[in-house]
Amino acid sequence: MALSQTFKSKYGPWALVTGAAWGMGTEFARQIGALGLNLVLVDIKAAELAQVAEEVRKTSGVEVKAVVTDLSRLEFIETLRRNTEGIEIGLLVSNAAYPPVGLFFEQSLEDKLRMIEVNCRAPLMLVHEFGAKMLARKRGGIIMMSSGSATQGVAYVASYAATKAYNLILAESLWDELRGSGVDVLAVMPGATRTTGFELSKPHLERSTLAPLNEPKPTVAEALKMLGRTPSWIPGRRNRWTLTLAQRLLPRKQMIKLVGSNMRQWYGK
Ligand SMILES: NC(=O)c1ccc[n+]([C@@H]2O[C@H](COP(=O)([O-])OP(=O)(O)OC[C@H]3O[C@@H](n4cnc5c(N)ncnc54)[C@H](OP(=O)(O)O)[C@@H]3O)[C@@H](O)[C@H]2O)c1
Repeated sequence: MALSQTFKSKYGPWALVTGAAWGMGTEFARQIGALGLNLVLVDIKAAELAQVAEEVRKTSGVEVKAVVTDLSRLEFIETLRRNTEGIEIGLLVSNAAYPPVGLFFEQSLEDKLRMIEVNCRAPLMLVHEFGAKMLARKRGGIIMMSSGSATQGVAYVASYAATKAYNLILAESLWDELRGSGVDVLAVMPGATRTTGFELSKPHLERSTLAPLNEPKPTVAEALKMLGRTPSWIPGRRNRWTLTLAQRLLPRKQMIKLVGSNMRQWYGK
């Protein structure tokens, strides 16, 4: 069977992607559309989301619904429930995140709580809502965007990294709980990736080259390919080897200091 037919029969007929207005969410929308799945695209930015929806409709010929909602608000789930009535979501891509960069005590409590809402509570609610229906149907896939920052402490993104650890552990645990149920789960752990969101954080990339920047297109292609094959995945061969080797060779304390020193170069004054 062709790849797109296998993918569609396992994870179709509809996919829901959060944070689809730009970055890797847009790339997920493009590549999933190209595989023939209809799409519910979710984001907080109406104009950009409408553009992406229009582009994917035109290039892939699939049905695309754009739903504008704020994932930090509990009511978002009701909005999605209304907009997915009568639609079978076979693939959930929990991609949206709130990723402010800064020293912990220079960030407001409001910012920190928003990270918990968008990066932890919303993914949890999405999985609870759509994963339960997949389990009942014995068919489906869930991709949760974690991060390379999820596996050790990271200065300058302390809260964000902790929220990404939540996604990693949740996805890996579900991968095991749901093994054999027909529902596949994958945590994706990209290193720094050239998205609008990342560029808006204004890193001084010229000061440090610890690992190469990922590009959204191959990162998303790898994520879609690895769903159903492994609990978690670090996209990009160099990133994967660098992180895996460093974690095996360095004591945890050194690993935290190494990653932190890269962050200081990128974001320090
Ligand atoms: N890019 C990287 O270097 C990198 C590295 C590791 C992991 N990741 C993870 O990969 C995923 C995608 O990253 P990305 O860089 O592509 O993200 P991005 O460029 O920042 O895009 C995320 C999208 O989600 C939207 N969003 C944020 N908060 C929302 C909310 N409350 N309700 C609805 N939509 C909301 C954003 O809108 P606004 O722009 O208005 O906030 C944006 O359109 C994230 O989970 C991120 O943590 C990224």
